Amino acid sequence: MVSYKDLGLVNTREMFAKAIKGGYAIPAFNFNNMEQLQAIIKAATDEKSPVILQVSKGARNYANATLLRYMAQGAVAYAKELGWEHPQIVLHLDHGDSFELCKDCIDNGFSSVMIDGSHLPYEENVALTKKVVDYAHQYDVTVEGELGVLAGVEDEVSSDHHTYTDPEEVIDFATRTGCDSLAISIGTSHGAYKFTPAQCTRDPKTGKLIPPPLAFEVLDAVMEKLPGFPIVLHGSSSVPQEYVDIINANGGKLPDAIGIPEEWLRKAAESAVCKINIDSDSRLAMTATVRKVFNEKPGEFDPRKYLGPARDEMEKLYKHKIVNVLGSNGKAE
Ligand code: G3H
Ligand code: 13P
Ligand code: ZN
Repeated sequence: MVSYKDLGLVNTREMFAKAIKGGYAIPAFNFNNMEQLQAIIKAATDEKSPVILQVSKGARNYANATLLRYMAQGAVAYAKELGWEHPQIVLHLDHGDSFELCKDCIDNGFSSVMIDGSHLPYEENVALTKKVVDYAHQYDVTVEGELGVLAGVEDEVSSDHHTYTDPEEVIDFATRTGCDSLAISIGTSHGAYKFTPAQCTRDPKTGKLIPPPLAFEVLDAVMEKLPGFPIVLHGSSSVPQEYVDIINANGGKLPDAIGIPEEWLRKAAESAVCKINIDSDSRLAMTATVRKVFNEKPGEFDPRKYLGPARDEMEKLYKHKIVNVLGSNGKAE
């Protein structure tokens, strides 16, 4: 058993409570390689923002579970070396799909896990989430559950199909499972294609496509049922048009990629939404930079010459999210 406490990590309990009171949200950035991790830690340290290092099952397999544990431990040491005296860093399993996977992560240094039973019939979701909570809480590991289905990764049928969270279920779910936070579905989805152009309207001033509104009324109803309970938003990348344009201008092909406007996420961060998940935007930043270098310098074959600039771009992106979207800067001095 490797306790996250021995790795210098923290769970989400206190940081969520503070975020709800303070009207900001904690960034949950997915990572699976060294450059992403360096950029996340540099951005969080410079901005003194609590941060959640988020790892999917696929990312854990990609990076290797043992190496990943040491990378998380190294991240804490790196943050201290950069001058962050008391780093507030969480290592979180994203979209855990079984009790066994959650247990393995808890036994190997994760301070927080998500058990995603959102596809299951309600009673099965309750039973699985409760089983994970009962195990996790023995080790002071926090647990995120989910009610409602997002389009994309969680629903392979079609990218624009989702089932909003039913506010009538949330009290029963939170009470019976004992989960520490709840991911809800209000119209966000995973990946770079969250909406089709046909679903959007065009802003006459800027010419930008504006997606259909998120179901903020569902979020309001959930907050009314569970006052002060930590809420999580998945699928919260904004898919910056600059990155999409750079990718497409340098040999890529991402037609009609559309994300969530940042103003909407800012509004969510001011509410009980205290964890906002961002993965695709980092992938876009990295891909745009690497493609540009490859195109402009075809003779370059030193990975540091394209992964280095990609890392710098991701750091810029993470800082922008922390300061201008989530408002978590200066919250972990
Ligand atoms: O929600 C899904 C995350 O973006 C992780 O994606 O399973 O491809 O690592 P992944
Ligand atoms: P994006 O694909 O919008 O970045 O969402 C990531 C996510 O929800 C990870 O769980
Ligand atoms: Zn997700």
